Amino acid sequence: MTNVAVIGTQWGDEGKGKVVDLLTQGANLVVRFQGGNNAGHTLVVGDDTYALHLVPSGILHPDKTAVIGSGVVIDPVVLIEEIENLRKRGVAITPDNLKISEKAHLILPYHKALDAARESASFGQKIGTTGRGIGPAYEDKASRLGLRAGDLLDLDGFKEKLVRAIVEKNHLLTTLYGQAKIEPDSIVQSAKIWAAALSPFIANTFLIIQKASKTGRHILFEGAQGVQLDIDHGTYPFVTSSNPTTGGVAVGSGIAPRDISSVLGLVKAYTSRVGEGPFPTELVNDIGEKIRNVGREFGTTTGRPRRCGWLDAVVVKAAVELCGIDWLAITKLDVLKGLDELKIATHYVLEGEKIDYVPASISDLAKAEPVYETFKGFDQDITGARSLADLPKEARAYLDRLTELVGAKIALVSVGPERNQTIFAHRFFQ
Ligand code: GDP
Ligand code: IMO
Ligand code: MG
Repeated sequence: MTNVAVIGTQWGDEGKGKVVDLLTQGANLVVRFQGGNNAGHTLVVGDDTYALHLVPSGILHPDKTAVIGSGVVIDPVVLIEEIENLRKRGVAITPDNLKISEKAHLILPYHKALDAARESASFGQKIGTTGRGIGPAYEDKASRLGLRAGDLLDLDGFKEKLVRAIVEKNHLLTTLYGQAKIEPDSIVQSAKIWAAALSPFIANTFLIIQKASKTGRHILFEGAQGVQLDIDHGTYPFVTSSNPTTGGVAVGSGIAPRDISSVLGLVKAYTSRVGEGPFPTELVNDIGEKIRNVGREFGTTTGRPRRCGWLDAVVVKAAVELCGIDWLAITKLDVLKGLDELKIATHYVLEGEKIDYVPASISDLAKAEPVYETFKGFDQDITGARSLADLPKEARAYLDRLTELVGAKIALVSVGPERNQTIFAHRFFQ
């Protein structure tokens, strides 16, 4: 048994989709454990590009089982549409290869309405959310007012719980935010359609995962977002509402922490961030613009331009420590081609003092000045590199220094969006 967790070490969009798709070849199960359709994971296979939001990135491999774990929040409308679109494109999706945890919570229309209302309220704190209802859905889970995928199997019970849950929502929507009331009946009607489409996939995924683990099957855990968006350990309040960290793997899928054998930290060769919040190494200049254009840094989910900046080793080191990352997958190294010099932030200076951690206070982080080491850039096209030795020495020096700074080894370097544009330095599943 080898169970590998794929974790985003930065602010998301590190290329988790590509890497999970690649590693699925050697695995038996691919499990999403948190987040919802705020995630946008892109897979490129030849001329085909797939943007996945809820369906795990292993789905292109028909003989593997894709699991949407209990820690995920599911917008049924989006999931049904995603399944239909994938099927139209010839991807086989059946109750045999896609399983949805009965414990996964549902994102309902009032969650989306509240997300939007809060983001535009004059008295609120704009987070720059994806507007998908993620925060409000996790709030309901914590306040024990949530509806779960399993509730779709008993529509009378669904209605009872919904009627209870919607009272507060409508009060907030109408009196505080001046929005229209949402009628429970319209949701009950929709739920019949959701139930018909999704019931065949709803299962006890805890048992499936436990059985797979006990019988020596290999499990790949697919994170969404990244460590700095973690609700506990990220740049709060500019975070998402779940735990994209390794701790989230155990709770969000139903596996003992000791059964996670390896943790692969995804590191984009520079940094990007979507939405509000401090970003010490952000480049608001021509270099940032160039990285955004060459790297096509526009959101997979919302299309928003991603803020871009230099690689921040303080951020990556925090992820390595917090998540027990033993291996790194460096992605999008090809994007840095043609820059005269490259920089890695090794630490920050905060009010005259050197610090090598991400401060918890957002105002401190906003004041933290990154201190850089500078490296020579490279000019060669590296998309054809298939071993570390194929990389220009400047690129290797950059990667070597990163591994030294953060204390983890390189398992893989991605040099383009395609499956074969990858350097493997370590194989997880033998
Ligand atoms: P995720 O959210 O972590 O799965 O990442 P996204 O899919 O949102 O963003 C990564 C983007 O970069 C996608 O469009 C990928 O196709 C693309 N990509 C992944 N790896 C590479 C790479 O090594 N080089 C280049 N140029 N693009 C890559
Ligand atoms: P993947 O899985 C990048 C960001 C949003 C916003 C904050 C909170 O593709 O890496 P939310 O809608 O979750 O309440 O928004 O989190 N965010 C992401 N940024 N990649 C993602 O997912 C993200 N999912 C959420 O932009 O700043
Ligand atoms: Mg993404």
